[in-house]
Amino acid sequence: AEPLRIALAGLGTVGAGVIRLVEANAALIARRAGRPLQITAVSARDRNKDRGVDLSRYAWVDDMVILGERDDVDVVVELVGGSDGPALALARTTFEAGKSLVTANKAMIAHHGLELAAKAEAAKVGLKFEAAVAGGIPVIKGLREGAAANEIERVYGILNGTCNFILSTMEDTGRDFGDVLAEAQAKGYAEADPAFDIEGTDAAHKLSILAAISFGSQVDFGSVDTAGITRLRAADIAQADALGYVIRLIGMADTETVDGTNRLFQRVQPHLVPFDHPLAHVDGATNAVVAEGNFSGRLLFQGAGAGDGPTASAVVADLIDLARGEIGAPFSVPVAELEAMPRAETGHRLGRSY
Ligand code: NDP
Ligand code: HSE
Repeated sequence: AEPLRIALAGLGTVGAGVIRLVEANAALIARRAGRPLQITAVSARDRNKDRGVDLSRYAWVDDMVILGERDDVDVVVELVGGSDGPALALARTTFEAGKSLVTANKAMIAHHGLELAAKAEAAKVGLKFEAAVAGGIPVIKGLREGAAANEIERVYGILNGTCNFILSTMEDTGRDFGDVLAEAQAKGYAEADPAFDIEGTDAAHKLSILAAISFGSQVDFGSVDTAGITRLRAADIAQADALGYVIRLIGMADTETVDGTNRLFQRVQPHLVPFDHPLAHVDGATNAVVAEGNFSGRLLFQGAGAGDGPTASAVVADLIDLARGEIGAPFSVPVAELEAMPRAETGHRLGRSY
């Protein structure tokens, strides 16, 4: 069978992980996809950097923005990061060239997901971003496909591995915030600018995508009320412990209907989680997402939320879908049908208990 030919833009933590996974599991992937995945071209900033992977088999392209225009490329994988800049330019040129895009870039989908989904749909190609939310956990597929028959009433969880690593490590060891953040960076969990992690922005990007998938609403990153963990001190963690809680950074999204209009409530902030709640036992760079479906009941998705292997696993799963010809809709409904939901004031539906 003809291979699916892939261009890889970005060869950092996740990009190098994708190369390792595609090479290590090549035979298994080819069997499941019905044809091999073949990386043909790669691009990053520094051609001479040692990335721990052999790039000699792939064409090096200096200008990543034109990767989608190459004749030896069927799909572009964007693993550069940043809501705008080269990542966005590459996404646009890829759809103009009539090729599909796989990305792990939640910042770009949170800011430009509607525009890009419309372009992908118009070009009848795929836009897939499983890796953008909760690393290796197949939560986008889980909610869009596995829970497709349900009205999702609420979605919430631990969406940033770096913050969870910091909070749970400080809790267990009493180590200093800055010291643990440096370790998260060394392990490849943090964003290029870790302010996105610790200020809650990365969790807010992911929450806005999860809400759109869950509620069939337009992605609305601008309406996420966001607080991070920068103000927390060891004393806060000790005080929470004395009261029977751990502290976790939680993103939650809910809807309410006021005078016939559905409204969207989205918030990211540190919460006290009681010791006996499942989220209190989510440690390290693990993420967990809880979704409440009106027929499925409570669903819990849990697993590695950051790091090279888990994130590469989600990227390559999207590539396998494309190799099988499963383009699908980027969101749970065609982008023109996503509902514009004004911001909700309270997010609390009276009479409901969670
Ligand atoms: P890295 O910083 O490790 O890698 C980024 C790559 O992009 C590098 O190869 C870098 O080139 C290249 N790059 C950056 N800026 C430019 C530019 N202006 N022009 C050309 N190339 C550029 O990031 P990650 O691999 O950690 O993350 C990649 C994406 O995946 C991001 O969107 C991130 O949010 C997302 N993600 C990351 C996860 C993780 O655990 N790390 C998990 C889930 C999603 P060079 O190496 O030459 O400097
Ligand atoms: N910086 C992100 C995190 C990477 O720590 O969760 C995964 O999206």
